[in-house]
Amino acid sequence: MQPSPPLTRDAIHSTLAATWLGRRIELFDSLPSTNREATRLAQADVEHGTVVVADCQTAGRGRLSRAWFSPGGANLYCSVILRILRPAERLTEWLSWLPLISALAAAEAIEAVSSLHVSVKWPNDLLISERKVGGILCESGTGARSSPFQIIGIGLNVNVEQHDWPEEIRESATSILHEQQRVVDRNRLLAQLILELEHCIDELALHGTNRLALAYHQRCSTIGFKVKATLANGDLCVGIAEGISQDGALLVRPESTQTGSKAPAIVHLRVADIIHVRT
Ligand code: BTN
Repeated sequence: MQPSPPLTRDAIHSTLAATWLGRRIELFDSLPSTNREATRLAQADVEHGTVVVADCQTAGRGRLSRAWFSPGGANLYCSVILRILRPAERLTEWLSWLPLISALAAAEAIEAVSSLHVSVKWPNDLLISERKVGGILCESGTGARSSPFQIIGIGLNVNVEQHDWPEEIRESATSILHEQQRVVDRNRLLAQLILELEHCIDELALHGTNRLALAYHQRCSTIGFKVKATLANGDLCVGIAEGISQDGALLVRPESTQTGSKAPAIVHLRVADIIHVRT
């Protein structure tokens, strides 16, 4: 593991230019999971925009119930607490775009502190040269007095070295350090991430999805290519990813399905594990 400057509240705030997001930062040496701690705080009515950060996680969680590799002293693990109220008819759109715009913000933050290009694999995997450099786990719930909250959990592989990865993800994961051979100050990256997230959340709240959807399309390396999708019920769908719907679903024109039933012209995927099939 390459030594990188420690995370401190002062160092984060010294470069933080955001207006409302991250006004309160809860920083821990170690937590089971920042999402778990953020949920606990949200249920106790902590304020909108609070950010929970840990140097290390002992039970970091990924999408689809996977574990998230979370060693100390190297990477970023943070969870943002939002309390945004939406009318019922706009809530689904809001909740389904939140993971996508968070991926967009994280990609922009990495690019702002490095010389790297980051793409997004639908819905919210961050890739550099087709290897995963970060991931996002969004959750939602209700706190005291039934007030709804949303949690955006972000894990970025920053200064971890290839030989530190567990065997099973060594080929598919990467870090900023590995890609550019230079240690990144996590304080600065976090401050940038908070700023980019604030911009994207404000844009979604003020102007809806139009501009964000365009930016997401441009960055998404899934669209236009063949994908193998494992659906929530275990079924497989192989086909060409043709776009993203108004509500953030991936639109796939299937080549085949496992069920044997007549394939619809276009499948709307809302929850799926995607593999890019590159030939
Ligand atoms: C994924 O599977 O791609 C999502 C990974 C999300 C990991 C982050 S690390 C910070 C936050 N706390 C967690 O336990 N998980 C998320």
